[in-house]
Amino acid sequence: MGTYAVTGSASGMGRAAAEKLRAGGHVVIGVDRVQADVVADLSCAQGRQTAAHEVLAATAGVLDGAVLAAGLGPGGSGPDRLKALVQVNFLGVTELLTAWHPALACADGAKVVVFSSNSTTTVPLVPARAVRALLDNDADRAVRAVRMYGRHAPVMAYASTKVAVTRWVRRHAVRPDWAGAGIRLNALAPGAVMTPLLQEQLSSGAQAAMVRAFPVPTGGYGDAGQLADWVLFMLSDAADFLCGSVIVVDGGTDAYFRADDWPRPVRAHELLRYFLRYRSSRTSLSDERLPA
Ligand code: NAI
Repeated sequence: MGTYAVTGSASGMGRAAAEKLRAGGHVVIGVDRVQADVVADLSCAQGRQTAAHEVLAATAGVLDGAVLAAGLGPGGSGPDRLKALVQVNFLGVTELLTAWHPALACADGAKVVVFSSNSTTTVPLVPARAVRALLDNDADRAVRAVRMYGRHAPVMAYASTKVAVTRWVRRHAVRPDWAGAGIRLNALAPGAVMTPLLQEQLSSGAQAAMVRAFPVPTGGYGDAGQLADWVLFMLSDAADFLCGSVIVVDGGTDAYFRADDWPRPVRAHELLRYFLRYRSSRTSLSDERLPA
């Protein structure tokens, strides 16, 4: 049995994942702004430090896995909402995982699941400037980059955080200090799942109409318990060979909009970078760790 940190453990998919882990006999350290083992506000630096520190204090230095589910959706309002959204959705993942990395590396094959979203591929014109600002850890610059979108700013901020956090996951997952340390870091990208986050969006005027009209080939909304089952699978030994992947579970929306966009071969102008990556790789199929 393992010890897992779960952020966003008080509601929705984070709560469902925490319940299933506990039902399986694991120890879960839940992190949330209410009703959690570690109560912390991930929208401010102090809260993130508290969350990082208190989880480590409860683990004796070894963490078998983590689920980063805390998030704010595009449905809320208020003067500080955009800033809070980018901090929780991006820094609330990256700062915690950076702090927890030594404890994850101490486990025997730790697994990490970060909640992305299919908004990464189904929201058009996500501002690259906001994504870049986030990857530079500059929340204020990211907020400035989305404000010009007016009433669409929350949707753009949300999609920017999910693109950025997914890139962060894929960049780190393959590094020697992550993959090479036995940590499997992957992202889960749900579509519209019926949780309080989505309910908030459904009660917010123009966004509600857009969500209801969103194409979902299977029909209907996703279920938090089913997404939690995917989380548990991605935390299991079945994920030993899963590294830097984005698992899209969205009723077919991404395939509906983007069927021919992925998989896509490397293009001519990308060849130089491809070969440089090829040559600088430290692990390959001839690696001595493979069975004879
Ligand atoms: P939810 O609203 O049910 O749960 C989110 C949790 O995050 C809540 O318990 C909330 O208290 C916590 N949280 C928010 N701000 C926080 C803060 N400042 N400090 C600490 N905790 C905070 O939402 P849901 O739907 O379960 O979302 C889980 C993840 O899945 C989120 O990252 C969300 O962006 C993502 N997602 C959700 C989709 C949906 O349709 N519900 C679709 C795609 C992705």
